[in-house]
Amino acid sequence: MFSPRLFKRDIVTLPEFILDRQKDFPYAKGDLTTLLNDIGVAAKIVSREVRKAGLVNILGEMGTENVQGERQKKLDVFADQQFIAALRQGGVACGVASEEQDEFIAFEDQLYVGRPYVVAIDPLDGSSNIDVNVSIGTIFSIYRITDSNRTARLEDFLQPGRELVAAGYVIYGSSTMLVFTTGRGVNGFTLDPSIGEFCLSHDNIRIPETGPYYSINEGNLRDCGQGIQDFIGWCKGEDGGTALSGRYIGSLVADFHRNLIKGGIYLYPATTKAPLGKLRLLYECNPLAFIVEQAGGMASDGHRPIMDYQPRELHQRVPLFIGSPRLVQKAMDCILAEADPTLKL
Ligand code: AHG
Ligand code: MN
Ligand code: MN
Repeated sequence: MFSPRLFKRDIVTLPEFILDRQKDFPYAKGDLTTLLNDIGVAAKIVSREVRKAGLVNILGEMGTENVQGERQKKLDVFADQQFIAALRQGGVACGVASEEQDEFIAFEDQLYVGRPYVVAIDPLDGSSNIDVNVSIGTIFSIYRITDSNRTARLEDFLQPGRELVAAGYVIYGSSTMLVFTTGRGVNGFTLDPSIGEFCLSHDNIRIPETGPYYSINEGNLRDCGQGIQDFIGWCKGEDGGTALSGRYIGSLVADFHRNLIKGGIYLYPATTKAPLGKLRLLYECNPLAFIVEQAGGMASDGHRPIMDYQPRELHQRVPLFIGSPRLVQKAMDCILAEADPTLKL
């Protein structure tokens, strides 16, 4: 006898999920659906190359530098090309700004008029971990432009994080995952290599209020302000409290993802060598801030929310404190107490 239950499937793929939620998206005309799917396809291609990186000639350096004077790896360049090509071909984005490109790229062909979005991207995050088989990632942000009858302009990319329409990341870890938000919670999808699809695995992710981990490059601690040093002391239980565990991979996506799931704080503060920290507002901080806030967490520069920044330039850097709200608040309290010792906690 016919039983509908026999036909029930217990997996939900990324395209199915996006289509199902399309009605929830702002400006639901299907463009954002297409764009997220395009990013998903590019992520699968990059994931495939990451998986066989040790087998083919794709490890190591290109012998070139990006605009920030950082050595480019072959995978940096490959990922950059894949995402830009997917966005150009996809027909929905009119421009892209990439951490690996000096200037933003406007898709200027006449055909590209009527494309309502721009994308900012860190195509390969955690480059120093590529050659040593440690998790790396991709981070993306999607903004809407004011008038889709033109191509992308600089001002389209310099919108505050509060204007983000969607943001997400891909982590190429022991499995490949895509995590994103469109402003209605955060969902995670794991790539099932046997069917080549991202499948919903982490429904409505919520970050714990507090957590067991603090993540910082402690090699820099001497070069940080007293407030940061006090906070790390507190994390280590130096005031008699329970010590947290230190965890630092050196790939922001991977450190962030762990703390999002388990609870914790990631910080890349200002140092004497890097007075604005190292991380980039557009490509790294804003998208992860949007995700963490949507999951119930906080993202701050130590004083104010990351999402409130009015960006001034594409490759702008900003200090970052991100993760479980109680831990981020504690870090901010320590910074405040440094400025005003009467507040010493
Ligand atoms: P990218 O590989 O995109 O340049 O980003 C590297 C970033 C980030 O992923 C990581 O958290 C941080 O740099 C690590 O920096 P340190 O080596 O200074 O700790
Ligand atoms: Mn990065
Ligand atoms: Mn990068």
